[in-house]
Amino acid sequence: MTLQGKHIVLGITGSIAAYKAASLARLLIKSGAEVQIVITPAGKEFITPVTLSALTGKPVVSEFFTANDGTWHSHVDLGQWADLMLIAPATASTLGKMANGVADNMLITTYMSMKAPVMIAPAMDLDMFAHPATTRNIEILRSYGNIIIEPASGELASHLIGKGRMEEPENIFKAVEDFFAKQQTLAKKKILITAGPSYEKIDPVRFIGNYSSGKMGFSLAEECANRGAEVILVTGPVSLTISHPNITRIDVESAEEMYNASLKAFPSMDAAILCAAVADFRPAQKYDEKVKRGEDLLNISLVPNKDIAATLGKMKKASQLLIGFALETNDEENNALKKIVKKNLDYIVLNSLNDKGAGFKYDTNKIAIISKSGIRKDFELKSKKEVASDIIDETLSGFPILV
Ligand code: PMT
Repeated sequence: MTLQGKHIVLGITGSIAAYKAASLARLLIKSGAEVQIVITPAGKEFITPVTLSALTGKPVVSEFFTANDGTWHSHVDLGQWADLMLIAPATASTLGKMANGVADNMLITTYMSMKAPVMIAPAMDLDMFAHPATTRNIEILRSYGNIIIEPASGELASHLIGKGRMEEPENIFKAVEDFFAKQQTLAKKKILITAGPSYEKIDPVRFIGNYSSGKMGFSLAEECANRGAEVILVTGPVSLTISHPNITRIDVESAEEMYNASLKAFPSMDAAILCAAVADFRPAQKYDEKVKRGEDLLNISLVPNKDIAATLGKMKKASQLLIGFALETNDEENNALKKIVKKNLDYIVLNSLNDKGAGFKYDTNKIAIISKSGIRKDFELKSKKEVASDIIDETLSGFPILV
């Protein structure tokens, strides 16, 4: 019984796929989970609460109050009780409400009070799934740290053929099992992650920066946290949000601030993954007032910044693991190998701006991981979330020194 003792809130919304939620509830219960169903008013049009409560052995929650005795159902209590919230099926309307905080039913208030991770299995017609509003809402939900179980392609309730059909209950159940299995692999580990760019101030309105969006580093932070690690995420200026109980976010601006925050955190860490695009140089002089046109900004002298990776490489104890990144434009492997030695890294993750869809800003990346003994493993172009998972599997999963 792999899910023994797990508390799962199963959210059901108004889709024809709601009938499949009964099989899903059964699979979860058979595996040892305790399941509490929260259903939207529209969901009840597709499957009866009687069927569902017979399966779970618990009354189905749908309204804020029970009509006959006025009992108040606390979404806050459910948010604290659950180890996982699984919304299957999730309609386009529910995705939109979740993405935008429209808390007008019990399911959305429960979602917004949820302390546990949330998995979402969308279900809708192909055109609704392909609509930019749905794509945007799913991206927003991913940015909240929610896990999307992609719908399958095939014949839909409308008899049209395309992507939008809720994934089969067996596959959703497998995703839940995998989620809980993975959740344990980094339990009690402490991991420092740097992300985003650094901004090196010229004057109060100008800086030297780079194109890093923080997506790669944030995906790593989220994946480590989902596997149970306590993460310190030191990030340069980015427009991303992240909310996970295991992640402590420290916002910095300059390379020097990132250096100070990283050095302070590192001694108590088991591992560090340095994904930030840190400026190698900063202006020698910082102007307190905006530099006016025609004044002395014809030349900006630069001085080198301290190298965070190299400093942590020197501080590193035998029990600590250090993983760096290399963003290259030419002679990629040689440059990456030099960085492993110079910074005393255990692994380097190489990405090249010559690969389409790789590097800055994209939602995807294409990487090779090279170990300090020079063994190289190449990966396909994948979403940054999947890339983060590959990096962790390859570098941290078999790390024997972690306690
Ligand atoms: O943020 P995204 O838009 O998702 O893009 C992701 C990314 C392209 C920024 C990321 O995948 C990446 O490649 N990050 C490292 C970029 C970089 O600055 O590489 P580098 O080759 O210049 O640096 C080598 C290593 O030393 C890196 O681990 C870097 O974090 C570290 N470094 C560099 C300079 C410095 N002063 N201190 C450092 O710690």
